[in-house]
Parts: sequence; structure tokens; C-alpha cells
Amino acid sequence: MKILTAEFVRSVVQLDQIPKGGYPEIAFAGRSNVGKSSLINCLLGRKKLAQTSSTPGKTRMLNYYNINNMLYFVDLPGYGYAKVPEKMREGWGQLIESYLRESENLAGVIVVTDARHPLSELDLQMVSFLKELQYPTLLIATKADKLSAKKLSAQLRKNIQTVQKYGVEDILPFSATAKRGKRELWMAIDYLLQEVTP
Ligand code: GTP
Ligand code: MG
Repeated sequence: MKILTAEFVRSVVQLDQIPKGGYPEIAFAGRSNVGKSSLINCLLGRKKLAQTSSTPGKTRMLNYYNINNMLYFVDLPGYGYAKVPEKMREGWGQLIESYLRESENLAGVIVVTDARHPLSELDLQMVSFLKELQYPTLLIATKADKLSAKKLSAQLRKNIQTVQKYGVEDILPFSATAKRGKRELWMAIDYLLQEVTP
């Protein structure tokens, strides 16, 4: 997809604030600080559209971005950040869960994971929940620049084995720093959109 316009629309803390454009939505989920916002910026070719930070827990709301007036990217709050007070953490969890359960325009979910590590329990819970809700799900292993080709393929192979039981067959290596995997991820997103737009 050629990016003509990419704009921040709004941060949503309650579902009734979701923009009414009716465009298909692609949501980005993943552990706090894994690199979701950096991945979004990389995909859009904008350095600072989605706020990134080395402090985990930066994205606390559903952040909506309007792409080409035809599509929304939804940057979801990161899960699993321990330092956030329990009550607040529950609040975000509920927001993500009710968004995923009730969304009318969600075309697919990109689950962003860390290429260096085994998938976390929360990653697996997310993948399992998405399977239950029957959303098309793409797994990404980001920060691929941080390990050697050999270590990367070994970790990817293990992680793919872990998610096969949820019907996920592949994990796409990605690096926002090295702009790796950008073309492949756009191809996958374009495919998801074809499935929902006539
Ligand atoms: P929250 O919004 O807090 O959940 O974080 P996030 O998942 O949006 O992560 P963010 O994009 O803010 O990135 C977190 C940190 O990881 C930042 O310091 C980024 O510079 C770094 N980072 C993100 N992607 C990459 C990558 O592909 N390679 C490397 N080396 N660093 C990355
Ligand atoms: Mg973020």
C-alpha cells in the first residue's frame, strides 16, 4: 500500500469513543515495550507518528491512526508491565478484551513478539483468545536486528512450534531499526484487507 496520508485520530479509553469512519481496522497487540509503536512508524514511514519510548507502558489507550482515509491502525496498550498498579492493569486488560470482543470492523490482529525470547504466557493467552474470537492473526518477531541470523532462525523455529496448536503457522521476522520485514508485513496486511473489502 502506498501511504498518501497517515494521521493520528484519537486516543480511546472507552469503546463509545471509537472513530465512526467505518474503515477496516488492523490492531497491534503485544507485550509492553516490545516495539509495537516503532513497528507502526516503520510501516508508515513516519518517524514519530506513534509515540515510542524506552519506558515500558507508554501506550495506555487504544490509539487510532487513519491511513489514506481507508483504514485504521489501532495501537493497543502493551500487556504485562509489572510496575503498573493492579487496578490500572486490569482496566487496560478489560479495555483490550472488550475492544476485541465487540469490534465491528477489525480485519485482523498483528501480535508483536520479541525475536530474542520464547513467547511469554501473555503472548500465548492473546493468541489463544484471538483464535477463540476467530480473528485472522499474524505473529511478528521484532527486534530481529538484535541477534545473529543463526540465533534468530533457531528462536523462530521454537516459537513457531509453540503456537502451532493455535493454528498459527509462521512468525515473520521484523526490525524497525533495520526496516526488515516491512514489505512482507504490508503484503500480509493487504491480504487481510482484501478479505474484508469488496
Ligand atoms: P508500549 O507502548 O510501552 O507498550 O511500548 P511499544 O511496544 O510501543 O514499544 P516502542 O515502539 O515504544 O519501543 C520500545 C523500545 O524498543 C524503544 O526504545 C525502541 O527504540 C526499541 N525498539 C523498537 N523496535 C526495535 C527494533 O526493531 N530494533 C531495536 N534494536 N530496537 C527497537
Ligand atoms: Mg507503544
